[in-house]
Amino acid sequence: MQRTLSIIKPDGVSKKLIGEVIKIFETAGFRIVAMKMKQLSRAEAEGFYYVHKERPFFGELVEFMISGPVVIMVLEGNDVVLGNREIMGATDPAEAAQGTIRARWADSKQNNIVHGSDSVKNAEFEIAYFFSGIEMY
Ligand code: CMP
Repeated sequence: MQRTLSIIKPDGVSKKLIGEVIKIFETAGFRIVAMKMKQLSRAEAEGFYYVHKERPFFGELVEFMISGPVVIMVLEGNDVVLGNREIMGATDPAEAAQGTIRARWADSKQNNIVHGSDSVKNAEFEIAYFFSGIEMY
């Protein structure tokens, strides 16, 4: 059993896709073991994406992530890290497989509706960044 962190980004929230995305996760067999809606501060967004801080898109990514509230979830299931990434589709919606969340609703590499941890190790960091043990059920 694995856990991964999922974020419905500000574009997913403003497009009223919270319910659709949760339905997709539950239909896939993932269990939602923690969830909260939150307006990230600049410091929180910068800390979450610190691995990208040298990338040219870092500033815009942080601005986008603080532009509105996000929904943060911990998903649990067999191979959920990889499974969630398959369901999300590629970062660039133009390259995302048909039927994936990003192929259906993302507008760009940045405005791509959802975030999902890209490895088990990063999932551990990302989950602990937003949730304590007693907030997971
Ligand atoms: P995410 O899965 O949240 O992880 C890092 C984010 O950086 C990614 O989704 C995109 O939103 C963003 N990103 C990655 N590559 C680019 C890029 N080339 N241009 C703009 N944003 C990007």
